[in-house]
Amino acid sequence: MNHHHHHSAAAADRRLNALRRHLEASSDIDSGLMISPSPTSSPGSVFSHVVRAPEDPILGVTVAYNKDPSPVKLNLGVGAYRTEEGKPLVLNVVKKAERLLINDSSRVKEYLPIVGLADFNKLSAKLIFGADSPAIKENRVTTVQCLSGSGSLRVAGEFLAHHYHQCVIYIPQPTWGNHPKVFTLAGLSVKTYRYYDPTTRGLNFQGLLEDLGSAPSGAIVLLHACAHNPTGVDPTIEQWEHIRKLMRSKALLPFFDSAYQGFASGSLDADAQPVRLFVADGGECLVAQSYAKNLGLYGERVGALSIVLRSADVASRVESQLKTVIRPMYSSPPIHGASIVATILKDRNLFQEWTVELKAMADRIIRMRQQLFEALRARGTPGDWTHILKQIGMFTFTGLNSEQVAFMTKEYHVYMTSDGRISMAGLNTKMVPLLADAIHAAVMRLR
Ligand SMILES: Cc1ncc(COP(=O)(O)O)c(C=O)c1O
Repeated sequence: MNHHHHHSAAAADRRLNALRRHLEASSDIDSGLMISPSPTSSPGSVFSHVVRAPEDPILGVTVAYNKDPSPVKLNLGVGAYRTEEGKPLVLNVVKKAERLLINDSSRVKEYLPIVGLADFNKLSAKLIFGADSPAIKENRVTTVQCLSGSGSLRVAGEFLAHHYHQCVIYIPQPTWGNHPKVFTLAGLSVKTYRYYDPTTRGLNFQGLLEDLGSAPSGAIVLLHACAHNPTGVDPTIEQWEHIRKLMRSKALLPFFDSAYQGFASGSLDADAQPVRLFVADGGECLVAQSYAKNLGLYGERVGALSIVLRSADVASRVESQLKTVIRPMYSSPPIHGASIVATILKDRNLFQEWTVELKAMADRIIRMRQQLFEALRARGTPGDWTHILKQIGMFTFTGLNSEQVAFMTKEYHVYMTSDGRISMAGLNTKMVPLLADAIHAAVMRLR
């Protein structure tokens, strides 16, 4: 009932705003049509009242980078893997899978079911929960193919807003910038829990326990499965166990965002440990999976939402409701990316090849951490930079402030988000000196 109120209230707001705009604008539109049109207001358009929205803070970094005419520049804003040559990477195993698909004349381009490709869903659940997961064996898991991680989060958000008794979701502070927007628009009410401690550049474990401890019973809690974005700070497995106990004791509902499985440690199984810890206790949880990073399938928009439930019966009813969320949103998901993933996951050799390529990406990122750390030490840059080595996954949360970031962009053509997050995957050996020089100068100038 909460959501009904929510949705109808939002609709009423929209109608009211539209009415207001109409009343304000109607006289201008009339005179605009009669007299000469002003170049800025485009009076001929029914959308002339539309104001420009701000650029997305993450994607906006690349827009600014592309506009910079400097021949030597560095974009550490995007969360996408680059090779040592600074180029995007299509995994070999992906190329092989695509060749197999093209050569298979039995393949057609029919619509997929609302829930997506059946093989893909089964294999995705196996990948995150483990091959011998009792939850899978007992048919207590429903998995639906969604539009990458983002789409999985959105579908889950709308399902929860309609069918879960508690519409509050706690997200870590800070978190990926899209989380609050996705969940708010899905109809949930977003709150934050403490996560990052700027003084240690590590986990604020005490603050996290306090905030989850005082959350209302049943609240949804968003957890980054591994390689927390933007901080690169993950709980240890002992801390995860502590979090699990606390959450289960308060009936908080775990919702894992798994956008980097295999990218953090280089091992798919190791990075899935926190999720498996929660599933092993027999309790319920949600998981949004993305294949954007770990298979480099960014633009294919391929991911999955799994919900682990207490019984097969509940799982099947939940799945029927997920379909009612998906059908009016985009009807059914795209076929190509899911076919690539299923081809790789079901073939022992291709799967093995993938783990090798994935490990190579993770290792290159770790090497960049070491090189950047060494370069700062060689320059005698003031401060403790060991967090560059300790943080995990695609990003380093440098601790540089927005003035220092602006200085580095202006003077060194180094681009990153204003919170000081840099993508280690966008760095390469040749560019390490430029980045180290930029950080050194920023720290010396603006301490
Ligand atoms: C934490 C986190 N969740 C989800 C996503 C969603 O990515 P995609 O929709 O491309 O799978 C990202 C991407 O940057 C992310 O960092």
